[in-house]
Amino acid sequence: MTASRVSSTIMAALLALAMLASCGGAPATTAPAQPAGAPAAAGAKTYKDMTLCYPQLGAESDWRTANTASIKETATTLGIKQLVFSDAQQKQENQISAMRACIQQGVDVIALPPVVEDGWDAVLNEAKNAKIPVIVVDRSVSADKSLYAAHIGSNMSLEGERAAAEFNKMLPSGGAVLELSGTTGSGAAVGRAKGFRSKLNPNIKILDSQTGNFTRAEALPVMQAFLKKYKPGADFQGIFIHNDDMGIGAIEASVDGTRGGFQAMVDGWFQADVECNPLLGPQVFDMALKLVNGQPVDAEVLTNETVYYPDKAKELLPTRKY
Ligand code: AHR
Repeated sequence: MTASRVSSTIMAALLALAMLASCGGAPATTAPAQPAGAPAAAGAKTYKDMTLCYPQLGAESDWRTANTASIKETATTLGIKQLVFSDAQQKQENQISAMRACIQQGVDVIALPPVVEDGWDAVLNEAKNAKIPVIVVDRSVSADKSLYAAHIGSNMSLEGERAAAEFNKMLPSGGAVLELSGTTGSGAAVGRAKGFRSKLNPNIKILDSQTGNFTRAEALPVMQAFLKKYKPGADFQGIFIHNDDMGIGAIEASVDGTRGGFQAMVDGWFQADVECNPLLGPQVFDMALKLVNGQPVDAEVLTNETVYYPDKAKELLPTRKY
């Protein structure tokens, strides 16, 4: 099946729903612990003294690109001593190697966006033994909370619940939906799937669920296989897609890369977009400086997020930051 046939079939019959990589509604910003250039308390470390390690998990989506930009831009704005940035290409072993190199180097703080939830205990223990605080960023880890200082990110389960609420509204008499899931074993996919199932009305059945690994390239063949197997409209009436990129992969060339979720709503592809904010840089560095100075931090910092709809998409699109 060609991409255009995939697109037109979906356009005609589906209620596509994507997780939005968004920054418009409620930016994840707090006042920095110490604004750039402000005098520090006597003896306290400043941003200029701080080396922060960010073993980014990959570059799989527009969300990730925006998250990387937020970290790099905030590091530059605050004038930190060094940002040790790497791209693990969605491989946990690469993230662990990068963390070990940072521990060896003796960085002040590690901010870790984990590709998957499990398998972090050993390296978190190594960081703890080296007295390097770790902030888990974006997705969660399953490791004991005593092994890291805090988590900053979205409530992925709530995002899934919000997606379910949209389907409950759109399919009041029930029906069947498909799920195009994110990276298997990732906190984002696990949380969204769990929240979705917990709030989906019992008269709506999840007909099938497959991973597209949060990428456009991997989502397209999954969507094509779905459409070979199930008839839109007759067999299923909606698709829950775990991020914008996979939604865009499924509809292919109909929308731009950046601000794609909003464009997809303007174009009539998505019926709702659940926000997941990637602009975490200011919060990460604010917390990092507090940790470096031995100040207390909240163990869990959740991002304020909302749901967007097509009726406002056109108006909001020019205000989107990416
Ligand atoms: O962990 C956040 C998710 O990761 C975003 O929803 C997705 O776009 C990204 O790849």
